[in-house]
Amino acid sequence: MASGPDIRARVPGATIDDVGDGLLLRHARPEDAEAVAALNADVHRANDEAGPDERIASWTRDLLLRPHPTMTPAHTLVVEDTATGDIASTLVLIPQTWTFGGVPFGVGRIELVSTARPYRRRGLVRRQMEEVHRWSAASGDLAQAITGIPWYYRQFGYEMTLHLGGERQIVLPRQPTGPTVVAVDSVATADATPDDRPGYNVRPATLADVPALIAIDDHAQRRGLISCVRDAAAWRYHLDTSGQDGIAAWDIRVVTARDGSVVAYLIADGTPSGDRLQVVRLETGPSTPWVEIISPILAWANERAGELSRDARTTVDVVSLELGPDHPVYPLLSGRVLRSRRPYAWYVRVPDVPAFLRHVRPVLERHLAASPAAGFTGDVTLSTYREGVTIRLRRGVIEAVEPWPAPDVTASARFPDLTFLRLLTGWRDLDELEHAFPDCFVRDEHRAVIAGLFPRRDSWIWPLD
Ligand SMILES: CC(C)(COP(=O)(O)OP(=O)(O)OC[C@H]1O[C@@H](n2cnc3c(N)ncnc32)[C@H](O)[C@@H]1OP(=O)(O)O)[C@@H](O)C(=O)NCCC(=O)NCCS
Repeated sequence: MASGPDIRARVPGATIDDVGDGLLLRHARPEDAEAVAALNADVHRANDEAGPDERIASWTRDLLLRPHPTMTPAHTLVVEDTATGDIASTLVLIPQTWTFGGVPFGVGRIELVSTARPYRRRGLVRRQMEEVHRWSAASGDLAQAITGIPWYYRQFGYEMTLHLGGERQIVLPRQPTGPTVVAVDSVATADATPDDRPGYNVRPATLADVPALIAIDDHAQRRGLISCVRDAAAWRYHLDTSGQDGIAAWDIRVVTARDGSVVAYLIADGTPSGDRLQVVRLETGPSTPWVEIISPILAWANERAGELSRDARTTVDVVSLELGPDHPVYPLLSGRVLRSRRPYAWYVRVPDVPAFLRHVRPVLERHLAASPAAGFTGDVTLSTYREGVTIRLRRGVIEAVEPWPAPDVTASARFPDLTFLRLLTGWRDLDELEHAFPDCFVRDEHRAVIAGLFPRRDSWIWPLD
């Protein structure tokens, strides 16, 4: 499902195009790793950072030097200045599979987009975006996605939609000086120690845990509308740290029950800095309620914070939970929340909306069946002013989805620019769009069916890096 096979076959380093001024667009090769890492680390540093961003350098090296589950060095594009041999610009396509209500679809994730200062505003990124959009389409992807700087990617057909980032910081209980004391929380067992947790243990994940990790993710995916799928190869990539640049490594832990079975997992930053322990993923399987594992997880966080405090000679007493705007553990930790940071958004591009709607038809029918418009018969026409789509429904079944090349004011609903993507991804509902955009119109007679097909449903993407 994920894109890439044609690119995987390309020769690393092969030239794609002469882009003028002595600049060559070509596939990257492993030998480019240090130069591309240096460029990325330089231009992606945060405003307040004096030096290059070592995490970005490390991620870049990983993508160019380690065997990756879905990409090769040829998935990185570089523009080389043939006069100097310098890398003028670069970006990378990381093919992956996401699901929409359980239906998998290919996504081309574009990242590490950089142009060296002397080469900016000459259209080098525009040229590379066209190239990777072509690759992604040729391999059957139905969408592209980017975590990117404000506004910039809108000009390449992207809409900001789907939550990205954000955090809840929680305060850890005071670290013990004697034997470890498990967090006393409203839901945790007071005065518990690691040995009398209700049978749960937290340990580093191993390759043998891969089937359990996949099963837990399968369960977790049902919580949101859209998520990223990790197969065994992707999990092995995360877990096999040999050859991995340590700075980008994750600390993957599983929670086991008394019988040793894996019931939940969490992922923390492998090399945290400052006073915070960062947790980027926390999921439990179908048989283990959150209220049962919150206590052992807090106990683990407390122990880990103690280790980090000793190593770094600082006090790590805050856990930064980067788990999306809405996660089942948040209500269980509400008494500990120090501060919250609201999420940013993914950029998503869906170049062929009718094709996407056709692909996810069973999910849309399920949505409709669960709504007051269940069993609807008729045509629903959606206009984005320049283009449109007709959805033909018969007794709640989508019989056809057809492009409507010249939409007019008779449309069931009109959405300016790419705002329909916000509805499609469940990020916003009709009322929110109408509130935000005075040129979004919905016909009363079709309001219930459109709201039924496209309900608001939160998603949280943990993408393949
Ligand atoms: C943002 C960045 C990647 C742009 O690279 P570039 O090679 O200059 O981009 P392009 O010239 O292809 O840009 C395409 C268009 O956007 C315009 N543009 C360039 N930088 C822009 C910016 N920061 N904001 C808005 N428009 C911009 C260009 O003028 C061009 O317009 P045109 O096609 O109408 O002439 C580059 O400035 C950079 O590396 N910045 C620092 C790192 C960064 O922020 N990367 C993106 C992280 S997601």
